[in-house]
This record gives sequence, structure tokens and C-alpha cells, in this order.
Amino acid sequence: SNTIPHEEGMDNTLNLLKEGYRYILNRRRNYNSNVFETRILGKKAICMGGKEAVELFYHLEKFKREGAAPNRVKQTLFGKKAIQTVDGANHQHRKEKFMSLMSPDNLNRLKRILKQEWRTAAKHWEQLEQIIFYEEVQKLLCKTACEWAGVPVAEDELERLTNDLVAMYESPAAIGPNHWKGRHARNRVEKWVAELVEKVRNEQIQPSENTALYTFTSMRNLDGVLLDKETVAVEVINILRPIVAISIFINFTLLALHNHPEEREKLVSDDGKYAHMFIQEVRRYYPFFPFVVARVKQDFIWNNYKFEENTLTFLDLYGTNHDPEIWDKPDLFHPQRFSEWKGSPFEFIPQGGGDYVMGHRCAGEWVTIEIMKESLDFLLNSLEYEIPEQDLSYSMTSIPSIPHSKIVLKMIKIRE
Ligand code: HEM
Repeated sequence: SNTIPHEEGMDNTLNLLKEGYRYILNRRRNYNSNVFETRILGKKAICMGGKEAVELFYHLEKFKREGAAPNRVKQTLFGKKAIQTVDGANHQHRKEKFMSLMSPDNLNRLKRILKQEWRTAAKHWEQLEQIIFYEEVQKLLCKTACEWAGVPVAEDELERLTNDLVAMYESPAAIGPNHWKGRHARNRVEKWVAELVEKVRNEQIQPSENTALYTFTSMRNLDGVLLDKETVAVEVINILRPIVAISIFINFTLLALHNHPEEREKLVSDDGKYAHMFIQEVRRYYPFFPFVVARVKQDFIWNNYKFEENTLTFLDLYGTNHDPEIWDKPDLFHPQRFSEWKGSPFEFIPQGGGDYVMGHRCAGEWVTIEIMKESLDFLLNSLEYEIPEQDLSYSMTSIPSIPHSKIVLKMIKIRE
């Protein structure tokens, strides 16, 4: 065994930062191997991508999440004791609570709230010279998320909360002050939500049963004990923060409409099928979540290579979504490709792969798709706008990547 290619060098973190979303894919190509070994942040690490690697990564006996996430990610993006860091029966138990929020009824409630917020926001934009689309969408999603999750937020707290939730997902890979902004933001929001949990437990506020605030406040661990209020806060934030992060996909949706004007006609004369394919292609094509990390749970051999217990392992999400063995002309934006797609849980993985309840696949994938569809519909059918000259390019190395201008829009009008 042990025939796996090794990247040379004492530490390759710099290469990872320089090549960003394409780091793993570039090496898989050069080494002609879907798995290779390297050193990241001073430690031996395995990187892998492609369908077989995804299957392996989500095998419950082969990998674990305990001790996998770096501190800088836990202190910004995830939070301590978050579901992302839990394994086995405890994970499944908590994941069931997350998935119980994703019923068709509850997703419809979310869409109704969102529709209203798009209208309210657009009425305001009509009064303005121009808007920065990324920032405006963050705010409207934050309002939507809070209402859906049962989190009461005053109008004058909304901007602060939005900025804090954004800082949490923008900061994990940042350095210096931009990274610390994320840590402070997390501390502030966790404290605020933990106070709300206390108010729910004292019956000072009564969120309805189908909300995240109610669900996590009242859930019990497998030992029958209520979650501590800090952990409830972490999991409620695990609903609020990523909903605000959908602003990135919505920006890329608008960019895709702009860069592929021929798509607009196909979408307008559509019964919903093409819109679904379009949204899937936005999630496949544009860079967002680059990779996920786990540790080898126990020694095993795979394709002749020995995986040693505890080795940090990166699964390439972006590269698997752009893998030429899976996708025909992967670097082409082509929604139609999804008309033939069979729906394997191991090939199309913008939000992770495998099973929702047993594994760590994103709990909010349906929320994301529904919010993107509703937003696409509003952009296409209810909004008029102009896109002035600006830098709409985006980086393949900043994580997360956002169009550089954050998309300035002018001459906004609601179509009645
Ligand atoms: C996990 C991506 C939106 C809640 C994940 C994972 C990824 C991801 C890559 C990790 C998969 C893994 O570790 O194997 C995204 C992207 C989103 C998004 C790109 C677009 C904005 C959402 C939304 C929610 C959500 C809207 C909630 C409403 C979660 C939760 C987990 C998770 C709770 C942890 C699941 C677990 O550990 O079992 N997401 N997500 N995400 N996501 Fe999302």
C-alpha cells in the first residue's frame, strides 16, 4: 500500500491560499490521482475529490468530525459544540431536529415570508439612486430568517445583526482584523440568542412550535437533558447565518442572468422545470463552499492506500462539481445538463453529499433551493433594474467569493 502521490514541501498552506478553489483539482490533474497527500497548517493532510472519494468521505465508519474543524472555523462559522462537530447517535438525534424544520409546510411558510420581504425591500429601492445588491439581499434574508426562526428582532437591531451574521461566514479564511470581526460577531450574537432562549424558558416570549427557536430550546439530548442555552444559540444561528449567506448564490444568480441573456427567454416561458435546472447550475458552477474537512476514524485501506487514524482529510466540493469525469464541459454554464442528471448524492455536492440525517450533508439544501427559486422568480418577473458599468468579476481564491462590485443596481422599479 501507500502508493499515493505526495505534494512536496514542508507546508503547502500557501499553495492552497494561492490556488483557492482550484487547488485540489489542479493537483488531482497533475498527479493523475483523485487522492493525494500534502501538508496543511503544519500537519499531514489528505485531499481528495470525485465520486468515489465522496462515497468514501461520507462512509460513517471511515470518517469522523470530532477534532476536524480548525479553531478559527469553530470560532466564526460553526460555534462550539455545533452539529458540524458532533458524530454518531448524538449527531443523528440533533440532525433529526434540524430536518423536522424542513417540512413542505414549513418551507412554504418561509417562501411566503420571503416573497413579502422582496416586495417591501424593492419598494424601498425604488426610492433610491442605486443599491448594492449583495448588502440589500443580506438584510432582506436576515429579516426573513428571523421571522421564520421565531427570533424577534427590532427594526433598529436588524442592520447590526445582519452585519454580524455576514461577518461569521465571511471571516473563517480571512486574516487579521477581518477574521477578528467574525469572532466578535459570533460572541455578540450567541450572547443575544442565549438571552432569548432564557426568555422562552421563562415564558416571556412564546415562539410557535414550527420555529427553530422553539425546536432547539425545547429539545432534549439522548440523556433526556435540555440543551444548554449556549448550544441552543449555536444551532439557532446555524439556521440564521446560512440563510443570510444565500445572498451570495442570489448574487451569482443575477450575474448568470446578466452574463447569459439567452437564458432569460428560456426562464420566462418556463413552467418551473427550467428554473430548477438553472438554480442547480448556479449552485454547481459558481465557487462558494470550497471543501469540507473530517478526520480518519480508524485505519483502513482504500485503493491500495493506507488512511491512518486521525489524519485530516479534505473533500473537494468545488472540484467535484467541476470534475470532467462527472460533468461534460464542466466549465461551461449550461443548465440543460440537469435535464439528464440522475440525482446521485455523491456527484453534485455544492452543500455536501451523502445522507441528510445519517451524515453531515447540509440541513438547509432545500431551504437554499426554495429561496433561490423564489428570488429568481422575483428578479425575472417582478423587478426592473439596470446594471451600470462595474467590476462584475469574481475571485477564484477569496473564500467565500463574491462579485467584486457586490453588484450595483440602478433605476429599480417593481413591475405590477
Ligand atoms: C452543513 C453548504 C445553506 C444549515 C453544510 C455543509 C456545507 C454547506 C458544504 C457541510 C457538509 C458536510 O460537512 O459534509 C451550504 C451552502 C449554503 C448553505 C453553500 C448556501 C448558502 C444552508 C442553510 C441552512 C444550512 C440555508 C439552514 C437553514 C446547515 C447545517 C449544517 C450545514 C445545520 C450542518 C449539518 C451537519 O453537520 O449535519 N452546509 N449551506 N445551510 N448547513 Fe449548509
